[in-house]
Formats: sequence, C-alpha cells, structure tokens
Amino acid sequence: MNHDQQPAAAKLRLFFALWPDDATRTALAEWSRKIHRATGGRETRPETLHLTLAFLGEFDAARVRELEAAAARVRIERFVVAFDEAGYWKHNRIVWAAASRSPPELETLVAELRAALAQTRVAYDPKPFVPHITLIRKARREFTLPQFEPIRWPIADFALVRSVLGSGGSEYFIQARWT
Ligand code: 2AM
Repeated sequence: MNHDQQPAAAKLRLFFALWPDDATRTALAEWSRKIHRATGGRETRPETLHLTLAFLGEFDAARVRELEAAAARVRIERFVVAFDEAGYWKHNRIVWAAASRSPPELETLVAELRAALAQTRVAYDPKPFVPHITLIRKARREFTLPQFEPIRWPIADFALVRSVLGSGGSEYFIQARWT
C-alpha cells in the first residue's frame, strides 16, 4: 500500500423515515398489490414500505453518534396520517400513496428534524418535503388506479434507516428510533 494514501472514510447510506407498524404495513401492502395489477412495474417489498422525512445519502460513519444526538433533540407528538390517495409521477414512473390532508404535526416534525440536522451541519437532500410512500417503481405509463379504503397510520416515532444496495434492490436496516 502506498503510505501516502489515506483509507477512504467509512460511509453509510442513511435517511430518516416514518416506519409503519404491522397493521399499517399490511394495509399498505394490500393496497399496493391491488394497484400493481393495474400498473405493473416493481412493487416495494412490504417490509421496506416507509415515508422518508429527510434523505442524507452517504454519511460519515464516524459521525453517527452526533447524528443520533441531533435526532434525539427533536420532539415528536402522536398523530394520525390518513392515506387516502394514490398517484403517479411521470418523470420517475413512481406510484405513491399519500394523504390529501397532510397533518400539521407531520410538517412540524420534518421542519424540526431538518433544523436539527442543519444545526449539526449534517447535509441532507434539500428538496422540499413531499410526503409520500413509494409503492411501485417503473410503472406502465397508462393505467387506471383502482378504488381503495383509506388507511389510518398512527404515528408515534421516527427512525434512522440505513440503506444497503444489493442485487435484489435496497435492503433497509433500522439504526435507531425515537418516540
Ligand atoms: P423515493 O421512494 O421517492 O425514491 C430511500 O432511497 C428513500 O429516500 C426513498 O424513500 C426515497 O424516495 C428517498 N429519497 C429522498 N431523496 C432521495 C435522493 N436524493 N436519493 C435517493 N433517495 C431519496
């Protein structure tokens, strides 16, 4: 090894998300299966369904403690999100689930989390928060979305998630959770 070369700093691919409880996950997966019949494409595996709050991307492993301390300062209230609509983004061919009325507590949580990250000088994807759950990728371009029953997701915590890219898509691991 050339002694002038420093080893590359270990990086983790990280994001903050709402991670569903089992009942919500089951309901979302059923909804997704139904939609998939109309749209084709690649379904999100039920165990990886989530709603992203802030995407960090490659993050220095040595700073994870600091990151967790920042997240721990964020207050989270209990609230419910009613997922009652699905839609399609043409530019990336994603079919998503969302709430036609996003509760203010969700916006507050994201604003506080992002402020805590900024204070700790943690960089995240600065795109505005568009709350959605990705159900299907690479959907057909023409389809009619089926009807479905709204899903009430009771939120009590948020999670720091590590994404590992594998041959079968991304695997997600919960690093930490805050209630
Ligand atoms: P998406 O489902 O709309 O693609 C893990 O990749 C999660 O982070 C996904 O929910 C993804 O949203 C979200 N995300 C947000 N910004 C991202 C970015 N710049 N690159 C990759 N994923 C991003």
